[in-house]
Amino acid sequence: MTRLTTLNRSIAGKVGLVTGAGSGIGRATAQLFADEGAHVVATDLNESEVKSAVAEIVEAGGEAVAFILDVRDPEQIRSVVGATTARYGGLDILVNNAGVSGPAPVDMDSYEEVWTHTLEVNLLAHVRLIRAALPWLEGSGAGRVVNIASTEALGATAMISPYTASKHGVIGLTRSLGVELGSRGVTVNCICPGPIHTGLTKLIPDEAKQKFARRRVPVRRYGNPEEVAHAVLNLVLPASSYINAAVLPVDGGMTAQNT
Ligand code: NAI
Repeated sequence: MTRLTTLNRSIAGKVGLVTGAGSGIGRATAQLFADEGAHVVATDLNESEVKSAVAEIVEAGGEAVAFILDVRDPEQIRSVVGATTARYGGLDILVNNAGVSGPAPVDMDSYEEVWTHTLEVNLLAHVRLIRAALPWLEGSGAGRVVNIASTEALGATAMISPYTASKHGVIGLTRSLGVELGSRGVTVNCICPGPIHTGLTKLIPDEAKQKFARRRVPVRRYGNPEEVAHAVLNLVLPASSYINAAVLPVDGGMTAQNT
């Protein structure tokens, strides 16, 4: 039939950079973008994982390139954005996904080191990547940024305060830059995943996961990375031009459930 609506739900041909694309949510997002015909710039600190992620995409007939990128390094960020735009002529989509978490009781000896490291990876790096990519996102005409926060951005769990603070910061950053950049044709949104099966949660025993999910998650299970990736895709579509500065939980209903 002739289409009755005008907005475009395809990212085919768009250039999308994903951080932390070697594992978990970042890897699934890179794969989904490739499935949708985007040119994927997969970046990660972990060389072998990011190369294997890109090899999988290329093997499947997709277009992707791997870059080693430690998001704590501003020079590497500039260089990867430069290499991306040199290769593809632009940059339309940025997914700030790389993140770290670990136990950090407030009175432990290395608390300040953990605090600095966590804030640098989970928050400052997002700022640096957005600033480096901004001229290109603006030039895209439909620039899209998605920051991966967490349900820890909406509430708090004890003993991980650097992580919780960093993720609350991701919401603040998303809202403020969404407000600032909306008039420049760039949307900035964030996703708050609940518990997801990834590298970050792999050390939690299955039994503990199931117990937690039965008690806390209305859909009664951990989520899969691909389920988060689809939410990311929705936010970066050209058709999502009026979704800006939004905070989207992807948590099986966890943060809505009182008891
Ligand atoms: P993951 O551990 O499977 O993947 C994280 C990736 O980030 C890894 O490939 C790692 O090498 C990379 N990375 C770590 N430090 C880096 C650095 N300095 N520079 C570049 N890359 C670096 O974990 P997952 O779960 O896929 O994490 C992705 C995002 O999702 C993180 O921001 C995390 O906080 C968030 N998240 C995850 C949840 C979960 O239950 N798995 C829940 C809520 C949020």
